[in-house]
Amino acid sequence: MSGNVLFPQMEIASEFEPQANVVLYHGLALDFLRTLPDASIQLVITSPPYNVGKEYEKSRSLDAYLAEQEPLLQEIRRVLKETGSLCWQVGNYVHRGEVFPLDVFYYPMIKRLGFKLRNRIVWHFGHGLHAKKRFSGRYETLLWFTVSDTYVFNLDDVRVPSKYPGKRHFKGPKKGLPSGNPKGKNPSDIWKLMQTEWETGLWDIPNVKANHPEKTAHPAQFPIELAERCVLALTHPDDWVLDPYAGAGTSLIAAIKQGRRAAGSEKEAKYVDITRKRLSAFWRGELKIRPLGKPVYQPTGKEKIARIPDEWKEQMSLFSDDAVKDRRK
Ligand SMILES: C[S@@+](CC[C@H](N)C(=O)[O-])C[C@H]1O[C@@H](n2cnc3c(N)ncnc32)[C@H](O)[C@@H]1O
Repeated sequence: MSGNVLFPQMEIASEFEPQANVVLYHGLALDFLRTLPDASIQLVITSPPYNVGKEYEKSRSLDAYLAEQEPLLQEIRRVLKETGSLCWQVGNYVHRGEVFPLDVFYYPMIKRLGFKLRNRIVWHFGHGLHAKKRFSGRYETLLWFTVSDTYVFNLDDVRVPSKYPGKRHFKGPKKGLPSGNPKGKNPSDIWKLMQTEWETGLWDIPNVKANHPEKTAHPAQFPIELAERCVLALTHPDDWVLDPYAGAGTSLIAAIKQGRRAAGSEKEAKYVDITRKRLSAFWRGELKIRPLGKPVYQPTGKEKIARIPDEWKEQMSLFSDDAVKDRRK
């Protein structure tokens, strides 16, 4: 074993072995799932292909796409423990300008398998494509399901600072005592700005875009933080975390970082390679990771790109409140 002190280098097994710490299977998710024992996994966290024609997928009809996912979800149900969870992170499928929110389509399918929905988490991000014929999309969702009513939920491990920790009970037997929780408050089901958490109580996990420290060549990565929060809240140390659509290995890194075992499958050799390299960089202490809870950069207004271009000023003054009022006189 070598690597840094906190995270010693581990072997990456290429097939599932119960004694392994990390398994990375190069191949189809369904084939990999079929090799896993019943009730062996505590958390499945994944972002499946959205059927939007990314380089790793061929777009087909929504019905055909969903039908392909059903056997995989059945296998996921089989391999999950009774106390386990499924976190299914999706966005929209868009066809000829019409939006099909994938979580709406997945919900009945996953519910039919006996899962129970605990949260529909909105992951809000500040950047993305600018739409022309509809409002620009700035969130995706993460459906958190559990297998049963006896599920793991470590709320204390993911609490966030409360806005008014000094608040006290103003009546009753606890009058005068602090009313909040010294460990912080529940982070809510909207994951938005860490920086404004104090004001709004929301979490912000920036979308992984070009200037993000975690960006790789993968076109649809999610941030390590997103997976890490689910790992912390829904598993215990040494539990197995599985991502059947592993991509650039984000969920695997989150699991290892939090002392869990990680298993993933990925069909594209180049992403398997990226995952291996990211894991090695992580163990060497060289992987660039946005630290959990680090405030998202907020422009001060003084940066050049935050200033109104001179060419726009005259045009904008035509629409100012005063100009509109003057025209009404
Ligand atoms: C949305 S991306 C996941 C990205 C990942 N969450 C990350 O942060 O890197 C979906 C991934 O699933 C892979 N994939 C698609 N169909 C697959 C299949 N049947 N079996 C295994 N991997 C598949 C794609 O190559 C792609 O890397």
